[in-house]
Amino acid sequence: MDVVRDLNALRESVAALRGEGTRVALVPTMGALHAGHVALIEAAKRPGTKVVASIFVNPTQFGANEDLSRYPRREMADIRMLTEAGCDLLWLPSVETMYPAGFATTVKVTGASDGFDGASRPGHFDGVATVVSKLFNQVAPDAAYFGEKDYQQLAVIRRFVADLDFPIDIVGVPTQRDDDGLAMSSRNIYLDDEQRRQAIALPRALGVAARAITRGEDADAVLDDARTMLTGAGFGIDYVALADAETLAENPAEDRPRRLLAAVRMGGTRLIDNIAIEPGG
Ligand code: PAF
Repeated sequence: MDVVRDLNALRESVAALRGEGTRVALVPTMGALHAGHVALIEAAKRPGTKVVASIFVNPTQFGANEDLSRYPRREMADIRMLTEAGCDLLWLPSVETMYPAGFATTVKVTGASDGFDGASRPGHFDGVATVVSKLFNQVAPDAAYFGEKDYQQLAVIRRFVADLDFPIDIVGVPTQRDDDGLAMSSRNIYLDDEQRRQAIALPRALGVAARAITRGEDADAVLDDARTMLTGAGFGIDYVALADAETLAENPAEDRPRRLLAAVRMGGTRLIDNIAIEPGG
């Protein structure tokens, strides 16, 4: 796997990958890779497709009191993991390459960005939409792969790709989970052993709530029960909500695909998860 850190080298390397009829797929990441990222690379590795991964810990999507400075950085281990996963090219820009002096542009998506993580983390999705737009222009992929764990992020990206006419297929890949059900996340390493044991209350509460809503129980009461279960497990709650799976509007119609979304805090660690609720499912 080639590793490039300079924009001209990136463009030359992508052009070399893109032979006659070859598609290019991009897997954007912030590094500290785990099996969830490997699943993205594997989903992207289709016949006739070359896979480019990017690692960039994007400062503009972190709030002032968030974990930018302690976000795990493990370049050598990440390079090994991507090589073993069969990735063809790694784009590793510096902050100065991504945001040169004078940089003054923001991509802002209204609607899909407004609630949930957008409300809890003001400016977060502006940072995501801006950096992902830049990655799309830098790599010019035919397809890009994102995990469904960051479900709202996926909705925001789908929105600006449609609005700004990026000719890129956006593919959502199901959340990868540890054996006990906790969604894989680079931030899980912040949890101590006791917090890690308690953390499985998050997927459990979402599973219980999704089954109850599917059985036709009152959604507001079910969401309250889920909040009680999570608080009992030691979590602080940012939100537990039911939304339309496509627009993320709250109070979704029951005959549409819906998504149950949650963000909780354990000590200094914020965890998110979500689960699908299909009509008639
Ligand atoms: O999901 C992530 O790792 C990041 O938000 C992304 C999409 C790479 C943008 O920085």
